[in-house]
Formats: sequence, structure tokens, C-alpha cells
Amino acid sequence: MILVTGGAGFIGSNFVLDWLADSDEPVLNLDKLTYAGNLANLAALQGDARHVFVQGDIGDAPLVQRLLAEHRPRAIVNFAAESHVDRSIHGAGEFIATNVVGTFNLLESTRGYFAGLAQAQQAAFRFLHVSTDEVYGSLTPDAAAFTENHVFEPNSPYSASKAASDHLVRAWHHTYGLPVLTTNCSNNYGPYHFPEKLIPLMIVNALAGKPLPVYGDGQQVRDWLYVVDHCSAIRRVLQAGQPGQTYNVGGWNEKTNLTIVHTICDLLDELSPRADGQSYRQQIAHVTDRPGHDRRYAIDAGKIERELGWRPTETFETGIRKTVTWYLAHPDWVRHVQSGAYRDWVATQYGAAGVADDSGRAA
Ligand code: NAD
Ligand code: TYD
Repeated sequence: MILVTGGAGFIGSNFVLDWLADSDEPVLNLDKLTYAGNLANLAALQGDARHVFVQGDIGDAPLVQRLLAEHRPRAIVNFAAESHVDRSIHGAGEFIATNVVGTFNLLESTRGYFAGLAQAQQAAFRFLHVSTDEVYGSLTPDAAAFTENHVFEPNSPYSASKAASDHLVRAWHHTYGLPVLTTNCSNNYGPYHFPEKLIPLMIVNALAGKPLPVYGDGQQVRDWLYVVDHCSAIRRVLQAGQPGQTYNVGGWNEKTNLTIVHTICDLLDELSPRADGQSYRQQIAHVTDRPGHDRRYAIDAGKIERELGWRPTETFETGIRKTVTWYLAHPDWVRHVQSGAYRDWVATQYGAAGVADDSGRAA
């Protein structure tokens, strides 16, 4: 079996669902169930003995050690993290606690477990750390895309905490011989994406008749990857990646934020038109920029293609259509995640009325 951490979040739950659709190898899913963890994402696995869920913290060493001893996984895939840049700007404490200290504790628990494995089991064991392209910092418009050799220049508390975790993972390989793999992926989108992030927020706000808050001029560039493609990249790296190596994962899909928002509006105009016949683009509202906002991310995913034969299967056009269609088909899921905690966040970030205006975001 494999241990997946953070498997009730956006990417983790997609990964668990995909994994069990593809194989019968059981998954032990350790997730703290923060505001971002949602067991409704895994409702399809209810009663499925191949999925064992444990609510807990990756930093809880006695718990993790007990789980490792009882379940004896052949691999660990670490998704667990605080993941939202804007939240990290409002308060970095949880990011340091989980992304840095939590990863350290998880590595230490894993090191103890690994030391007790027989040689053949050690040879097969892998610790795969899921990370982000944001550790590399921001690119100028003409700069070459990030390769695995790009210097780490994180700019937000989130990316700094992820960079720290990547360094710890690297060091546990070089110092202790832990067979680690790291993936640095670009922005994901798709089903089960929590509506604090750009794409689901725009879909949900548009349908609710609320403003679509674009930070600054909206010309920031991200490289978007459909989440199911990210999951297949992780499976491939787990299967064939070289211990100690890092692999960039991206969609070859650089888009400005404004292009993303326009695309979503146009799709909604087609699939769920406004009652008044106007375009959803009318709801776009430019608001004060995010402090320290990275201008451009772009991933060179050449290494994973050359060495492991992985390429994304979705284009942005196919992936975003699937995503918008999924949100239209799952209003209950959206209602469920828009809990009290979610409403508090919207008020903190976008103002008491939960909407943005030209005077900027509330902070
Ligand atoms: P998410 O915020 O949706 O989910 C994170 C999950 O981790 C949640 O289920 C949460 O309950 C759980 N968690 C948080 N702290 C925990 C702890 N201390 N112990 C156990 N579980 C804990 O995040 P996501 O978007 O699914 O991202 C997953 C991973 O992928 C993160 O490591 C993130 O840095 C990385 N990543 C995300 C993106 C993206 O675009 N979303 C891109 C590249 C990399
Ligand atoms: P986000 O989804 O938070 O991902 P990240 O910051 O990790 O790239 O944001 C994606 C881009 O969209 C980023 O440039 C910030 C921008 N953005 C907005 O313009 N408005 C919003 O309300 C949000 C949440 C993000």
C-alpha cells in the first residue's frame, strides 16, 4: 500500500480517486482536515476497503510512526500543506508549522521506518514530495521557463515555506540516503478545487452574480495544468523517477489571469447564460494587487518528458471546459465548501460584503 498525506485536499483527492481507478493497491490517507480538506471529495470511495482514512497531522510523530509500523507502506506521497498564497500573506504561522516543521517531522518518522526495512524493501521504497514552481520565484516576460536547475528565489511566505520543505527533502536524501523524489508543478485546476483560488473563485462568483476580483492589471502569467495530468505525472515519477532527482511538471500553457477570466466568462455565457442576456465579463472588477505578486511563472517540463515519457493530455481549452462543466454539475459540492470558515475568509480578503470594488481588497 501507499501512504498519501493531504489526500482530502484538491490535488490529493484527485490523486487518490485516480490511483484507485487505475490500481487495486490500497491507499492510507492521512489528512488533518483543515478548512481545505474535504471528505466529500472522496464520497465515491465510501465503503471501499482499499481506502483507509485517518484524520491527523503529518507533524504528529507518534501517530505517523504508528501508522507506518501498522500499514508498512512501500511509498509515501506528501501532498499535505497549507497552499494558498493570500492566506500566507495574512498569516504565515500555519505555513511554517505544516510545510516546514510538519515536513521535517514526516521525514524523520519516515527515516526511522526506512531504517527498519529489509534491504529489498528499502530498494523499492520511495518518498515523493509534491511541490510547486513558485519556489523558483518570478520570471520576466522574455526569460526562459524554469528548469530544475533554476535557483530558488521564493517571494511569498507560501513559496518560501515550500522551498524550505524542498531543501529538507533534498538533505534527507543526501545525508541519510532516503530515496526521495520531488515534483515542482505549475498551477493546477480542475474538479474539487477550493473556491479561494483563481479559477474556481471566478466560476463560483460569476454564477452567484458577484464581482470577479482581478488583482492589479491582470497581466500576471501562470502556467496552467489540468489536475488529472498532474496526478498522472506523479504516478509516473513514483514509478520510474530516479531517487534524489527533482522533476518539473507543467502544462505548456502560459496564460495571463485576464485571459483565464475571459475564457471562464465566455464558457459560462455559452453553458449557463445570465438571465439578462449580458456577458459574465461585465462582472470583472480590477482590485488592489496582491503584495509581492509574482509576475510570471513558466515551467520547462522537458526533463520529465525526455526521461520518463510524460506529457499532459489535456490542452487548456479541453481542461477548462471540463472544469466549468464540473462546477455547473456540482452545485451541492460548492454549497458544502462555502461553510462559515469560507465566508470568514472571503470577508477578510475581499471585504465585509464579500465583494471586491475599485477601492481594493480589504486586509
Ligand atoms: P489544498 O490546500 O487543497 O489541500 C491540502 C490538504 O492538506 C488539505 O486536505 C489539508 O486538510 C491537508 N493538510 C494541511 N495541513 C496538514 C497537516 N499538517 N497534516 C495533514 N494534512 C494536512 O492543496 P492542493 O492545492 O491540493 O495542494 C497539494 C500539494 O500540492 C501542496 O503541497 C501544494 O504546495 C502542492 N502544489 C499545489 C499546486 C496548485 O496549483 N494547487 C501546484 C503545485 C503544487
Ligand atoms: P491563485 O489561484 O491564488 O494561485 P497562485 O497565487 O498560487 O498562482 O492565483 C492565481 C493568479 O490569480 C495569481 O496571479 C493571483 C490571481 N488572483 C486574482 O487576480 N484574483 C483572485 O481573487 C485570486 C484568488 C487570484
